[in-house]
Amino acid sequence: MRLRTLALAATGIVLAAALWWRKNPSACPYGQRFWVEAPHPLITRDRLKEVLNPGAGDRILEVGPGTGYYTLDVAEWIGPDGTLDIFDIQQEMLDHSMQRASEQGLTNLRPTRGDGRDLPFPDDFFDSAFLVTTLGEIPDQAAAVSELARVIKPGGRLVVGELMGDPHWVSPGAIQEYGAAAGLVLESRIGPWFGSFSLLRKPS
Ligand SMILES: C[S@@+](CC[C@H](N)C(=O)[O-])C[C@H]1O[C@@H](n2cnc3c(N)ncnc32)[C@H](O)[C@@H]1O
Repeated sequence: MRLRTLALAATGIVLAAALWWRKNPSACPYGQRFWVEAPHPLITRDRLKEVLNPGAGDRILEVGPGTGYYTLDVAEWIGPDGTLDIFDIQQEMLDHSMQRASEQGLTNLRPTRGDGRDLPFPDDFFDSAFLVTTLGEIPDQAAAVSELARVIKPGGRLVVGELMGDPHWVSPGAIQEYGAAAGLVLESRIGPWFGSFSLLRKPS
């Protein structure tokens, strides 16, 4: 009986914490980076490659690279003539990704620290942009998508990856709505609704 009460109390605490997290978006602290270093089922690097369709020499923006789960692969895909700008609110995440890139001999990354609600890049600048399990951590998600739409070129892609179970999960429907409000068109989605990449396109 006592065990059941304890189990119920623990479940209640976990649910309350998850609800609080959803209502109070905040960055995953660098000290808890083990979460982002774990395997990402469904939102795999292969699927990201398929939906982002990176080309040699592309200029790409990643918001919220964390410790570089996707970053190093994307930097490889665009080759030495491409540039991958990584943009994060936490300097430690940028330093961590840059250190890993340098250990792999990658020289085409540019780190910038800042808040995804206000990107320090010109209009129509990037061939494409992506963010994975990051949108829900940004307090004003509509503003973040609007900024991303501003900085990609006409015809460019914005790829948003989300995995259910993340306390800051953003549903595919909400992604489509944020995109539409920013003038982006949902072109496709790869993966099931609970773990997928949404491809939004800026009209040419
Ligand atoms: C859950 S991690 C995801 C890391 C990586 N994309 C992955 O899937 O493994 C979210 C990342 O977004 C960053 N972030 C959170 N809020 C941000 C904001 N307002 N502006 C820019 N980056 C932010 C965090 O610092 C962290 O690096």
